[in-house]
Amino acid sequence: MVALFLVAILLWTSYLPPSGPATSYPSPPPPSNDVELLTNSSLSRGLSLLRPRCYRNLSMVNITGFSTLPERIQDFLYYQHCRHFPLLLDLPHKCGGEVFLLLVIKSSPGNYERRQVLRETWAEERLHMGTWIRRVFISGTTGAGFEKERMNQLMEVEHRKHGDILQWDFQESFINLTLKQVLFLEWQQGRCPHVRFLLNGDDDVFAHTDNMVHYLQSTHGKLGGDKHLFVGTIMEGSEPIRNPSKYFVPVQVYESTTYPPYCSGGGYLLSGYTSKVLHQMSKYVPLQPIDDAYMGMCLARAGLKPSNHIGVKSGGLRIPSLKVDHYDPCYYKDILMSHRFLPHELYLLWSQVKDPRLRCWSKSTEP
Ligand SMILES: *[C@@H]1O[C@H](CO)[C@@H](O)[C@H](O)[C@H]1NC(C)=O
Ligand SMILES: *[C@@H]1O[C@H](CO)[C@@H](O)[C@H](O)[C@H]1NC(C)=O
Ligand SMILES: *[C@@H]1O[C@H](CO)[C@@H](O)[C@H](O)[C@H]1NC(C)=O
Ligand SMILES: *[C@@H]1O[C@H](CO)[C@@H](O)[C@H](O)[C@H]1NC(C)=O
Repeated sequence: MVALFLVAILLWTSYLPPSGPATSYPSPPPPSNDVELLTNSSLSRGLSLLRPRCYRNLSMVNITGFSTLPERIQDFLYYQHCRHFPLLLDLPHKCGGEVFLLLVIKSSPGNYERRQVLRETWAEERLHMGTWIRRVFISGTTGAGFEKERMNQLMEVEHRKHGDILQWDFQESFINLTLKQVLFLEWQQGRCPHVRFLLNGDDDVFAHTDNMVHYLQSTHGKLGGDKHLFVGTIMEGSEPIRNPSKYFVPVQVYESTTYPPYCSGGGYLLSGYTSKVLHQMSKYVPLQPIDDAYMGMCLARAGLKPSNHIGVKSGGLRIPSLKVDHYDPCYYKDILMSHRFLPHELYLLWSQVKDPRLRCWSKSTEP
């Protein structure tokens, strides 16, 4: 009975006209924030039962030293080949008009407060210098059982209210961030292929998005984005961590002793063109545990290089003196990005740097 019902639903849904962005929406500016709940939980469970699941690759146990690896690395290896997870919350019309800068913010379900502050500060959707800034939070799932259900409900409520959540049904973890990035690239090629630039970053950074739009427009123009661009805090010659830590990557997972150059994952800017190339390359580069280094591998595969931008302070600002206030807005008004802030700090800092009455002692306040 149940199986018949599910098959019927599957057939029914597969005959629905595709809800792609192009057909019935003649690119209305401003882009619409319509949300789409792909599933409600009972339906989603039913469908994912029918979907061919991605199984553990048990041959991995034969890798040298497999049994000595930490459990999460073993788990990573078992599932390394799995790249398709059901989309729970979609935003099919996010890029219905011309989007100049799409803010792509990694956020796990529990970080409600961070998302809420970002919505009111640097990630607010708006028209700036004649171009649109739009926002998506990208997320997996956390917890299990009732806890997982409850967190998914939270995401659903936020999704309905704000139209800014993309969620896939995979377990959030540090090691799974690469998966999140790859799932996003796949989504973007289908839903937002013409976005001009993207900011990819964490939900605890201060991103001066006005300055970003200014920088991107003045270097590439309002219609830019069709050339390679990948900028942030560059990491060159960095090595995989071989001793136990959150960042541990054993030789069984990554053999070479150095990573190709990449930009620190706190936040980097890229063009629509580069995003498309990364999506193509990601199909050939096996998933790796460190998500920002993985992007470097995909760039290298395409023969492209990331570059450094002095305004992106992924390590935070280096303010040598203890006598000055490290949160003085004058340090932040000319930068592109800095790491990392608590929600109330972000809220205050954003309102200060946006205040037209802000006076700084000298023109260049960069420490
Ligand atoms: C979920 O699906 C059930 C049965 O398929 C339906 O009765 C219920 O109204 C749905 N809930 C939502 C929130 O759409
Ligand atoms: C591991 O290798 C052995 C010997 O080559 C083989 O017999 C066994 O089937 C392999 N195990 C898996 C799970 O592939
Ligand atoms: C499973 O792992 C083995 C050994 O690493 C590899 O040769 C094989 O291609 C993997 N299978 C899949 C489906 O990834
Ligand atoms: C990554 O996600 C997959 C799918 O949910 C899960 O099986 C795996 O355990 C996760 N890995 C970690 C380290 O959490």
